[in-house]
Formats: sequence, structure tokens, C-alpha cells
Amino acid sequence: MVFLTGIRIAGTGRYVPPLTVDNNAFAAFLDTSDEWIRSRTGIVTRHISDGEPSWYMGLQAARQALEAAGISGQQLGLIIDTTVTPDYVTPATACVIQRELGAVNAMAFDVNSACTGFVCGVDMAARYLATDPELSYVLVVSNENLSRITDFSDRSSCILFGDGAGACVLEKKQGLYSAYMMADGTGVTSLYANANRRLSLFSKGEHAVPEETDPQGDFLRQEGRAVYRFATEAMPRAVQQVLDKAGMTAAEIDLLIPHQANLRIIETAAKKLQFPMERIMVDLDKYGNTSSASIPIALDEAVRSGRLNRGDRVCLVGFGAGLTMGAVLFEY
Ligand code: ACO
Repeated sequence: MVFLTGIRIAGTGRYVPPLTVDNNAFAAFLDTSDEWIRSRTGIVTRHISDGEPSWYMGLQAARQALEAAGISGQQLGLIIDTTVTPDYVTPATACVIQRELGAVNAMAFDVNSACTGFVCGVDMAARYLATDPELSYVLVVSNENLSRITDFSDRSSCILFGDGAGACVLEKKQGLYSAYMMADGTGVTSLYANANRRLSLFSKGEHAVPEETDPQGDFLRQEGRAVYRFATEAMPRAVQQVLDKAGMTAAEIDLLIPHQANLRIIETAAKKLQFPMERIMVDLDKYGNTSSASIPIALDEAVRSGRLNRGDRVCLVGFGAGLTMGAVLFEY
């Protein structure tokens, strides 16, 4: 799908908590090692919230993105926040950020499609921009506090995750825009964290449906190998889909920014796509997997380090719980 109206990233931003935790810190209380974590995941260190709420991290990233775009909060018409770790079940994190930015002219809501969240948010922003002539600027902000749902006694998952936020301001621009989004609900139990399931005062539980997930606890649970298999299929598939829709080849992508889950996943997917690692943005060594925040953090790094330049064709690709996958392709 190539829209007549494309998108332009007017500004980006990121925030990661100052508290850093390296692999050796895990070896101090778990049967693991820096060598195992590096060689199996590529992760060296991650940033962990020292009390910063999700909305606060998102706000810092959003402020940077607004500053880079040279606009005020009042100029935003829509705020889309993506998170699997909100501070409130309701209201939406986007509403808290809207209040803090004084974005009095903006509608605000949250999206949860796990690690695909930012890509999904960008695609929704593109569609709003394409169909609403009065909408000038959309803020997409992704904030994650994964340490809140991490089981630090599970060595196969706790070493993967980090906290942080990334954001971008989007506006309309005639040009290339291609998107592909997909979900496969048969993979719900491959990667999940339970929500509150308390019964009401009036309920006897007579109509309870057998649990398909572990009812104990609200930590993130994953079948590591199943997720790995899915991710190494999903990433090349989503990229190929946006290329096919745009009638382009992988050689025409200047920079690929994938969800930062695991270096081995990215390398395997790159091989399948026959895409050179030199044109793939990787920063998971510093941040670990920050779910939906990982792509906008990497995007902001790419912009601020000069790796992504105006006119470059950039592809963002995400995959995660749901199971979900998605990619967008446009000119920076
Ligand atoms: N330190 C040392 N040993 C470990 C650790 C650890 N931290 N974790 C697991 N092991 C052990 C296992 O117990 C197992 O031991 P065993 O052979 O005695 O049973 C051995 O290492 C190998 O385990 P595997 O699960 O086969 O290890 P694998 O190479 O598959 O790596 C990993 C595990 C890193 C979790 C991998 O499967 C993975 O990355 N999966 C994808 C998960 C993911 O990315 N989730 C993120 C959320 S979703 C998303 O963002 C896409």
C-alpha cells in the first residue's frame, strides 16, 4: 500500500534511566555469566528504572522530540502512546503526557501491540494524517518499565529486558509510504503477562474459564525458543511485505531499524533477507530489549549520530507478543 500522502519525521527523542545494570550484576545472584548473555543475546548492559514511572520516561522523550521538531505541545493534534507497562489501567498514559505537555488541542490514547507498538503507532499516525486535513502533527511516544513485570529469578528472561522511552513527531509529506501489520493470536501463550483477575464481591467463579496461562503472578512469561523461531520468521517476512507493496528491493533500503530483542535474531533475519548488517541499526548491547521503546530509541540514536540522513529510505520492523509483527517504510 503506497499512500499518496507519506510521512515526515519532524523530530525524535529518547530517555533511558541513569541506573545501568551490566551482565555481571546478574551473575552475582543467578547461575549465569557475562559470556553467556553476550554470546546468546548481544546484550552487555541495560538501563533500569530507579522509580521513574512509564509516563515520566515517555514525557522526557516527547519533550526532546518536540524540541527537535521545533513545535509546541499546543500544535499537536494527536498523541499515541504505546506501552505494555502503563502506570494506570486507565487513564491512558497518552493523557498523562498530554497534560504535562500542555497539548490542549490533542486527542490522546494508548496502543498495546507489545514490541510492535511503535511501528503500529507510526502506521496509525500515518493513516490519521492521510485522512484528516486539519491534523498537522502527531506525537508517537513509546515508554516501557519492563523491570516491573520481569521475574528476576528467571535467568532465561530477566537478562533480556531494560527500561526506557523513545518518541517522534510526525507530519504529512508527499512521498513513499508502505506498511504491513499482522497478528497471530495462536501465539498468545508464547509470551504474556497476566492482568488483574480479581473476582467481584458478587461472583462465585461458577463461570470461570480454565486458565490457559499460569495464574500465579503477573510476571512476563515466555517460551524462549518459540519466540525466537517466530521472531526470525517475522522480521524478514514483514520487511519483504513492505518492499513488495512498494515495488522495491531490500537494496533500496538505506537503514533498517529492527526491534532490539536479540542480536542473533537480527543476524539470522538479515541473512534470510540477504541484507548487510552494516545497514542495520543495532544498539541492544547498551539497552537490552525495551519492548515498544526499542525502535524509537534506536531511531533517535540513528538521527542524532548522523546514521540516518534526510532523504534516506528507512524501514522500521517490529515483532513481539500477540504474536504481532509490523513494518513501515518511508523516506526520512
Ligand atoms: N545463563 C546461563 N544459562 C542460561 C541462561 C542464562 N541467562 N538462560 C538459559 N540458560 C540455559 C538454559 O537453562 C539451557 O540449559 P540446559 O541446556 O541445561 O537446559 C541452555 O542455557 C540453553 O537454553 P536455550 O533456551 O536453548 O537457549 P537459547 O540459545 O535459545 O537462548 C534465549 C535463550 C536468549 C531466551 C533465546 O531463546 C531468545 O532470545 N529467545 C527470544 C526471546 C525474546 O527475544 N523475548 C523477548 C520478548 S519478545 C520480543 O521482543 C520479540
